[in-house]
Amino acid sequence: MKARTRLAILGAGNIGCSIARGLVQSGTFSVGNVLLTRRKMHLLQKLAEEGFVVESDNDNAVRSSDVVVVAVEPQQVNRLLKDITPALDRDKHTVISVVSDVSIRQIRTVIGKNMRIVRAMPNTAIAIRESMTCLAADDRNSPEIGIAEDIFKTVGRILVIDEEQMIAATALGACGVAFFLRAIRSASQGGIEIGFHADQALFIAAQTARGAASLLLSMENHPEYEIDKVTTPRGCTIAGLNRMEHAGFSSALIRGIVSSAEKASKLYRANENETT
Ligand SMILES: NC(=O)c1ccc[n+]([C@@H]2O[C@H](COP(=O)([O-])OP(=O)(O)OC[C@H]3O[C@@H](n4cnc5c(N)ncnc54)[C@H](OP(=O)(O)O)[C@@H]3O)[C@@H](O)[C@H]2O)c1
Repeated sequence: MKARTRLAILGAGNIGCSIARGLVQSGTFSVGNVLLTRRKMHLLQKLAEEGFVVESDNDNAVRSSDVVVVAVEPQQVNRLLKDITPALDRDKHTVISVVSDVSIRQIRTVIGKNMRIVRAMPNTAIAIRESMTCLAADDRNSPEIGIAEDIFKTVGRILVIDEEQMIAATALGACGVAFFLRAIRSASQGGIEIGFHADQALFIAAQTARGAASLLLSMENHPEYEIDKVTTPRGCTIAGLNRMEHAGFSSALIRGIVSSAEKASKLYRANENETT
């Protein structure tokens, strides 16, 4: 990323601020080259003190940047896009939308210009450079995908997918953080019941989850291959695992992910006429 490249994040809420923090932490952008907007400006005070440029005017933010990340809720996106349309310049800007359920075609229809648009689906671990970010554009080999890859690969792992898979990416990758956090929390509660203090139980559960994930990512093995190494015949692991499966462990996760995807596919249509 060129040192002078400026990034505007329109809608500095949960994911917008996480993206901003991760990209500064990675050195991809200097803090003074990241512009953040939201309507309740007082909530950006702390970020302003950290050196981020905070703006209430989306149009101004777009005019003074090169890469524009749109990070508002689906029901807020039409109004925002209409506000920034006059400032958008195809020769200058790459637009990256992290908004769930709003397609590139729908974004183009609202802005009425043939802008270079990428959809990105990161998760909140982007704040600590551990995101799983799925990316999609009209063309996998387009310059805009290259720009998005250069940005998001500095804050975690990336995967270029077909745009039609973005709903699935939302459920598995973005919502997925909450699913695994709840699993870790549940494991820690079990740990408390069998003898650990809460802080010890959470520490052991979280580091064990991290190790399990790392086994898959670094060895590229199938989970069952690694599970087979832990499940001694007639042992305690298989006893616990089978008990969980009888209670619907895998089924609950699968159903939860399918429900999240169903909901994610209705976020924009359900709200597209709202004007908040
Ligand atoms: N949270 C996640 O983990 C995650 C992950 C991937 C994708 N996403 C997607 O990212 C989007 C944002 O999610 P979120 O969880 O970050 O929601 P959020 O915390 O509600 O953030 C949205 C932000 O947009 C601001 N906003 C709304 N209208 C605006 C406007 N016209 N101009 C400037 N700012 C405006 C809001 O602040 P004001 O009210 O002060 O304007 C709010 O801070 C959603 O589409 C979501 O599906 C979220």
